[in-house]
Amino acid sequence: MNYRTLGRTRIDVSEIGYGAWGVGGKQWRGGTDEESRAALHRAFELGVNFIDTALAYGDGHSERLVGEVLRETPQQVFVATKVPPKNRLWPARPGIGIDQVFPYHYILACTDESLRNLRVDSIDLQQFHVWNPEWIGRDEWRRAFEDLKRSGKVRWVGVSINDHQPDSALELIETGLIDTVQVIYNIWDQSPESRLFPLCRQRNIGVIARVPFDEGSLTGTITPRSTFDGDEFRAFYFRGDRKQQVEERVSRLLAGLSADGSSLAEVALRFVLTHPAVSTVIPGMRRVRNVEANCSVSAKGPLPEALLAVVRQHAWNKNFYS
Ligand SMILES: NC(=O)c1ccc[n+]([C@@H]2O[C@H](COP(=O)([O-])OP(=O)(O)OC[C@H]3O[C@@H](n4cnc5c(N)ncnc54)[C@H](OP(=O)(O)O)[C@@H]3O)[C@@H](O)[C@H]2O)c1
Repeated sequence: MNYRTLGRTRIDVSEIGYGAWGVGGKQWRGGTDEESRAALHRAFELGVNFIDTALAYGDGHSERLVGEVLRETPQQVFVATKVPPKNRLWPARPGIGIDQVFPYHYILACTDESLRNLRVDSIDLQQFHVWNPEWIGRDEWRRAFEDLKRSGKVRWVGVSINDHQPDSALELIETGLIDTVQVIYNIWDQSPESRLFPLCRQRNIGVIARVPFDEGSLTGTITPRSTFDGDEFRAFYFRGDRKQQVEERVSRLLAGLSADGSSLAEVALRFVLTHPAVSTVIPGMRRVRNVEANCSVSAKGPLPEALLAVVRQHAWNKNFYS
């Protein structure tokens, strides 16, 4: 496993981090806590030392499971979690004030709840689970972040940027008050390369690249025959003719990659890690075999220029979250 510095936090994090939404259950079916525990243990054995969870994932279940496995793990692992929007609206909506989403006392109370779930005294990275640039001049979030850091309950702070809106955090970065951003960056959505990544490099902001597989489409496993439980997140994400659209896009992409011989999942992760602004990529992985496959990608290094040129042609401007 290779490690990269997470911006100005100066900690070295594994290139392959662990996305822990799926292990929260609830919105992700088809896995068990036993499998998740085994996957987490294997990831830490293979050198993963950065994990992204959230209070909202399974209403604390992901945090509790992560905390439990960490207590059995000898290695140092950095934990990032998130404060959910109080109005439970993802993403943040224009025109809705911060008082309805992140009031000061609510941010502190959620952090206390995450500390209890994880059973730790300090959270390495606390993030807002949504961000609205209209809040930039407000005092609540600044004071909460400062007070949390001062109290030692959190070491660093960041924001998980709204889906497919990388530029909505540019002004926030310029305030100098956050240490990291978390952003969708994958073969389909290459948009952070334009403005967000150059600014993060200039300001030494850690970049956590999320959803590297577009919730599964970039592993090549989503076809019109794929089925999900009705109330599962992916039944919504891949609804209507979207599975068909995905299959068509993936087959065109695979045709371009055919000479390479790597799996699509491997190319998808290597693409993300090829960008020097990225500190860590956090695939969701609930199975040992996926952990092993994904961790092995770190040693492979950046995509060769010819392959990168092919992948660059496959950006796809869509928003399946809406
Ligand atoms: N707003 C936000 O802040 C936000 C939103 C979304 C996600 N996130 C974070 O980003 C993380 C990653 O996103 P995600 O989990 O939603 O989606 P993702 O990483 O794009 O895709 C996860 C899917 O890929 C499968 N997979 C993983 N490795 C594979 C491999 N080598 N071969 C084939 N399939 C593989 C997983 O299967 P298994 O589950 O069966 O292993 C799972 O179905 C989340 O866990 C969460 O930490 C944050």
